[in-house]
Amino acid sequence: MDHDVVRKAPLFSPLDDQAAETLIATMSPSRLERGDVLFHEGDQGDRLYVIGEGKIKLGRTSSDGRENLLAILGPGEMFGELSLFDPGPRTATATAVAETQLVSMGHEQLKEFLAQRPGVALTLLSALARRLRRTNDVLADLVFTDVPGRVAKALLDLAGRFGRQVDDGVLVPHDLTQEELAQLVGASRETVNKALADFASRGWLRLEARAVLLLDVERLTRRAR
Ligand code: CMP
Repeated sequence: MDHDVVRKAPLFSPLDDQAAETLIATMSPSRLERGDVLFHEGDQGDRLYVIGEGKIKLGRTSSDGRENLLAILGPGEMFGELSLFDPGPRTATATAVAETQLVSMGHEQLKEFLAQRPGVALTLLSALARRLRRTNDVLADLVFTDVPGRVAKALLDLAGRFGRQVDDGVLVPHDLTQEELAQLVGASRETVNKALADFASRGWLRLEARAVLLLDVERLTRRAR
């Protein structure tokens, strides 16, 4: 696993290289295939995870079985900290959407570490605050923005984290099925497919298997407003 990628997680940012490497060496590595569930919403949680490679979807299921995705996390991102700061059950189910490598640390070990390094607790707080800001934006979009606008926004967000510049535009290998994309946007698959087909017919993007090529980021950005 690429330790330089793991090191980008907020947990390590205030540490020098040696302290970060020492901490990473104490963490347990694990590996998941697409579809493997790491933990379920409601489980008792006692570990924090950092992604080294791959992607994890965080989802919730309604009582009638519908799924909503809270976030797709990728390399250098962490999760599983809510049940540390607010002891209780896991607030979401974590499932791999690609082959994924992680390192993890038990909450007890993390608490001891935070007591010695209060600076790290502060960066974890900033990460939590960023997540709350993002969640508030998503909530407002659910109320104020139409589905095509939310689709455009979700694609741009995925592009910012997983996209890479290619000749024709920005290639975003999101690894999501159309169903998962719809769950992320919080709309039906039909409505999301219609929005994607409309963007494709306007020449703003090209759909590929578990990926999308953004051809006109500027128009998509305007549509996302
Ligand atoms: P925990 O509740 O321990 O397990 C599920 C994890 O999903 C949670 O910790 C957070 O790390 C993460 N999570 C929960 N809600 C969100 C959200 N809205 N955005 C991003 N990550 C989240």
